[in-house]
Amino acid sequence: MYLILNSRKTRLAFILITALSSGNVNAQGPASQRGEYLATIGACAACHTPPAVKELSQACTPEEQARETTVRSNPDWFAHLDPAKTMAGGVPFILRFSATSSGLVQSSNITPDMTTGIGNWSEAQIIDAIKLGIRPDGSSLFRFAPHTFYENLAQDDLQSLAAYLKSLRPISNAIQPRNLPFPTQPANPKPSIPQAPQGRNPARAEYLMNALVGCKECHSYHDTSGTLQPFIGGDPIDPFVGVFRLGPDLPLRQNEKGWSAFPYPGYAVLYGGNLTRFGQGGDLEPVTPPQIARAIREGVGTVLDQYGRPQPLAHVMLWQFYRDMTDTDALALSDYLKSLNFIPHDIGQRLRLFGTDREAAFKQVFGTLPSSNDRLIFGLDGMPSQCPKN
Ligand code: HEC
Ligand code: HEC
Repeated sequence: MYLILNSRKTRLAFILITALSSGNVNAQGPASQRGEYLATIGACAACHTPPAVKELSQACTPEEQARETTVRSNPDWFAHLDPAKTMAGGVPFILRFSATSSGLVQSSNITPDMTTGIGNWSEAQIIDAIKLGIRPDGSSLFRFAPHTFYENLAQDDLQSLAAYLKSLRPISNAIQPRNLPFPTQPANPKPSIPQAPQGRNPARAEYLMNALVGCKECHSYHDTSGTLQPFIGGDPIDPFVGVFRLGPDLPLRQNEKGWSAFPYPGYAVLYGGNLTRFGQGGDLEPVTPPQIARAIREGVGTVLDQYGRPQPLAHVMLWQFYRDMTDTDALALSDYLKSLNFIPHDIGQRLRLFGTDREAAFKQVFGTLPSSNDRLIFGLDGMPSQCPKN
């Protein structure tokens, strides 16, 4: 998966989200099982588990090339995560700060491998890394969302997550050091509440949204001053972009036409919708909490197409992770959306298609045509084949 960090603030554009099959995860039970539940709905694996796909420039056999193409047109990324690298990191994130400034950060190996992972960290050290972004050696992480919300996690949830990471199978996978044009800062320490709120109630919903799941991040709007207008959608800073390819490798090559991160041909840009439409006075006010919960967990949209059919939601909505959410949590979130007051904000089409015109797609997202640095970091001019010549 790639995230593209857009210029004005440290805000993210998800390019494509990979999904993890977690089986039945348990919201109760021992700490490591509760941690597995939190890690699943928190979509840690979307960033920490790489897909098992070779870069096209390295896909040398016909089989490898076929797999490349399938992955790029098949929205079920479940099928494509590398089971040999669960939580072993190495997913690259291109961070674009401005036309001339960029960086590359790879997700960490968070399995308990002793040399390449976090095997010799104590649970308290893991908690500091999750909550504050401070590593045992005193260095700080580059925290982008959702890491920026983890400072709000309750102590019991932090402990469960740490216990879960400790319980993972250790996998050896050395991660390239990150490359950033500025120093990183840890979060300001603040006390954690001892226990996360539980139950189908607004406190639980707010807790989940502020500490773990990114509903607000993806469905809010940052105005030109950078102020967040929660839940009204259509963010110019956080679109979900199919401009660039996603995978364990660098961006789209020139010869790669007809692919996008979403199951649509060509290049696409997708915006999170206005969720206040489900609230009081909104056109989606008649939609019930169970219907919203279905959208969250099963990716079945609530807006009907011209034939009256519900539309499947792009998997960037993370429903492949949310499908293990308990009824209580999914309904608490749905009730919360119903309690919002409608704020008119027409985001127009959620999905914009650009065919093969990636420059136009780039312009839609970043407001300018790609600079020479953009061309380089996103590989817009193609990448040389790394296959042996025969
Ligand atoms: C949007 C992508 C993303 C998501 C989602 C995400 N992480 Fe991370 N995480 C990263 C990146 C990237 C780094 C490395 C940052 C750096 O090197 O500065 C990281 C670093 C870490 C580290 C530090 C490890 C080390 O060796 O320094 C821990 C621990 C961690 N993540 C745990 C989690 C947990 C637990 C979750 C889910 C609750 C999670 N992450 C979700 C992207 C993500
Ligand atoms: C990574 C970004 C992201 C996150 C996190 C996210 N969403 Fe979404 N969501 C989207 C996008 C993009 C769409 C539009 C998908 C489409 O049109 O195919 C969407 C669609 C939806 C819809 C469907 C609206 C309809 O048309 O019926 C609902 C409901 C929704 N999101 C609620 C939530 C809730 C609740 C959360 C938190 C649990 C959440 N979303 C988290 C990006 C996100």
